[in-house]
Amino acid sequence: MTHLAEFIRQLPKAELHMHLEGSIEPEVMLALAERNGIKLRWETADALRRAYDFSSLQDFLNLYFEGCRVLVQQQDFYDITRAYLRKCAADQVLHAEMFIGPQSFTERGVTLQSLMDGVLGAMDDAHREDGIGSGLLISAHRHRTETEALALLDSIMPWQDRVAGIGMGGPEVGNPPSKFVSFFAECKRRGFKTSIHAGEEGPAAYVREAIELLNVDRVDHGNAALNDPSLVELLRQRQIPLTVCPLSNLRLKGVRSLELHPLRRMLEKGLFVTVNSDDPPYFGGYVNENLIEVQRCLGLSREDILTLAKNSFRAAFIDETAKSRFVASIDDYVAHHPLP
Ligand code: ADE
Ligand code: ZN
Repeated sequence: MTHLAEFIRQLPKAELHMHLEGSIEPEVMLALAERNGIKLRWETADALRRAYDFSSLQDFLNLYFEGCRVLVQQQDFYDITRAYLRKCAADQVLHAEMFIGPQSFTERGVTLQSLMDGVLGAMDDAHREDGIGSGLLISAHRHRTETEALALLDSIMPWQDRVAGIGMGGPEVGNPPSKFVSFFAECKRRGFKTSIHAGEEGPAAYVREAIELLNVDRVDHGNAALNDPSLVELLRQRQIPLTVCPLSNLRLKGVRSLELHPLRRMLEKGLFVTVNSDDPPYFGGYVNENLIEVQRCLGLSREDILTLAKNSFRAAFIDETAKSRFVASIDDYVAHHPLP
């Protein structure tokens, strides 16, 4: 391993774009299916892993939603959340903001109570046992209606104080941000931070809608913004964070190679970018592998890596005191790890 790769692994960082349903390792997926008496199309973890060969976002989402079927009981939600947060502890991810999309589960009769008790219980234990901070992001599906999104918002209000933000994912093209203007306005009115996936497969116009119509606090992905110079200027001026997911973009054919990934250009243009894993087992890496691979393929400097790590804390949905404390932990790390 290169010095810089080892430096990245030990560097304090946050992850802001990771879907809990997309964090299930194949072995765990099979064990959960067995525990819940659910028949999957794959018999072995290797067979499942071989299926992780996607032609597009929709191709991936079909498998992702199929995998959601193995999550049924409170313990299932606890186990996958705890496993991901253990990985954070091993990878120096000191703060993690995790999406979950309850609509996949409540439509099958899983109660929101069991989902929330499982996830929140694991977050509490990870904090107590490993000192890992985390936030829960409730994600609505963009292929469903705005009325359904509003119903989801109503349903999570009993946990309002435990929800760090509201997001939106799912098939992007044909489901523009403009479809959800009232929903995002209502999220804001109720005091929630917000984000939406935009510019992953969709055009720059969707990223513009996310900012101008929805007023989101962060944009998830945002890659297509680079096709519109005036939008780049808007993102730069307002310093709206983009949660970029390089290995996800590679595996979903958003970029042909990591060498062609827009992250470097985003940094050069002064955009507020962070690096994240999206759905780590599906795309072949957690946040450290994403950082190590983009560093290698784009020739990022140590300063670039430090910018990305500091951005990850500065873009988090946490208070300013916590941000400063985390950023100081990076400065402290650098002071003790001079690179050749
Ligand atoms: N849900 C999980 N991963 C996603 C992605 N990359 N884009 C949209 N929705 C998602
Ligand atoms: Zn995502």
